[in-house]
Amino acid sequence: MALLIQNARVITSTDDYTADVYCAGEQITRIEKSIDPKSVPGAEVIDAKGKYLFPGFIDPHVHIYLPFMGTYAKDTWETASRAALVGGTTTLIEMICPGKADEPMAAFETWLSKANGTAACDYTFHMGVTRFDPSAEQQFREIVKKGITSFKVFLAYKGALGVDDRELFHTLRLAKELGVVVTAHCENETIVAELQARLLAEGKTGPEWHEPSRPPRVEAEGVHHLMTFAELTGAEVYVVHTSCDEAVREAQCAIARGVRAHVEVVLPHLILDKTFAEKPGFEGAKYVMSPPLRDKRQPPAMWNHLRSRAVATVGTDHAPFDFESQKTMGKPPKSDFTKIPNGIPSVEDRVNLLYTHGVTTGRIDLHTFVDAASTQAARIFGLRGKGAIAVGADADLVVYDPQYRGTISAKTHHMATDYSAFEGWEIKGRPSVVTVRGQVMARDGRFVGRMGTGKLVKRG
Ligand code: URP
Ligand code: ZN
Ligand code: ZN
Repeated sequence: MALLIQNARVITSTDDYTADVYCAGEQITRIEKSIDPKSVPGAEVIDAKGKYLFPGFIDPHVHIYLPFMGTYAKDTWETASRAALVGGTTTLIEMICPGKADEPMAAFETWLSKANGTAACDYTFHMGVTRFDPSAEQQFREIVKKGITSFKVFLAYKGALGVDDRELFHTLRLAKELGVVVTAHCENETIVAELQARLLAEGKTGPEWHEPSRPPRVEAEGVHHLMTFAELTGAEVYVVHTSCDEAVREAQCAIARGVRAHVEVVLPHLILDKTFAEKPGFEGAKYVMSPPLRDKRQPPAMWNHLRSRAVATVGTDHAPFDFESQKTMGKPPKSDFTKIPNGIPSVEDRVNLLYTHGVTTGRIDLHTFVDAASTQAARIFGLRGKGAIAVGADADLVVYDPQYRGTISAKTHHMATDYSAFEGWEIKGRPSVVTVRGQVMARDGRFVGRMGTGKLVKRG
């Protein structure tokens, strides 16, 4: 059904104006000062007076199907895409994370099959490179031809997902040749493994020791390492989930030398700090992720980097594991923080918490909010028709109610996990209508769409 959104305050990464927006089929077809509903009979009319109209938000970093640390992430595309849409995110980019022995093409098909026909929102993938040899290389070439124009490498997770320097070098060379972006988890895996072993030997086994096992310098070294390889191969790189000032500065130094690099921060590193992972009674396990939550100096530094646009995007690194049955894999009596599945579920909460803690506090303005949570991801990863409000763009839209007040709870969220890292937190604002290519998918905290509406996004 066609859609007429009236009296909207349209906010994009660059513009702020009041208009009526008309969507026919899957795209925005008219943006005018005033559109008479009589001129568009049959269209659903939405009055957006007093509300913002944002382009659909894009989360460039999620894990949904994820075999990891001896278990599987909890969400399915059904639960995750529903949660994303209720929270205003209309496109997800999922990381394909094959095991080292897996064939890349088979992994791509497995990950695609989980989303295809099930996802309610649009989606694409970063192709994980966990092994690089001639056979894998051939398969990566084929996968890129299918429109998956970004890779993902892990410089962390020794012996599991991590690549060695030879593999990193050849991955970047291939990426340069094919013109694809390489996203990278940057932490020096050898130092992490050594620090973990030392801490455990000293009896430091609880979740609060996760951060000391991967301090900021370990992450900064990872970024420096990636930048050296990017500089020498000419590849374009994207540092995922940057958590600290030290790491951002390494990227900035490289950018100043001419390296084509982008930096992502994820929601937990903006609004949580390591005291959450230090909560007593194993509660801290809910907050174990990598890179870890940092000391209280770091979130303000990351907000500054976001405001100055040294940080291009805000993702989530949504990696959902249950507290009771999964995070407890590292619980006493066999207490071991290295066995706690890493990740914080947050795909549903990103937009509202970024708005609440960023825009309403004045840390970032509305344009930075839209740019970082939508437009830059579309630009960097070539998501055609996304991240913009313009005639011809996909009708992925969020009518946002800044007057709404509510609280987050696992009792009401749509993610599959049994806990929320933000239990009881207030949100100031929420999407009142969310559309994907012209179809209304969520209204006022409820999913109202159809599963399977989501499509694999065309990428340039
Ligand atoms: O803690 C995290 N980040 N878990 C998911 C896997 C990854 O490193 O992105
Ligand atoms: Zn990671
Ligand atoms: Zn991740």
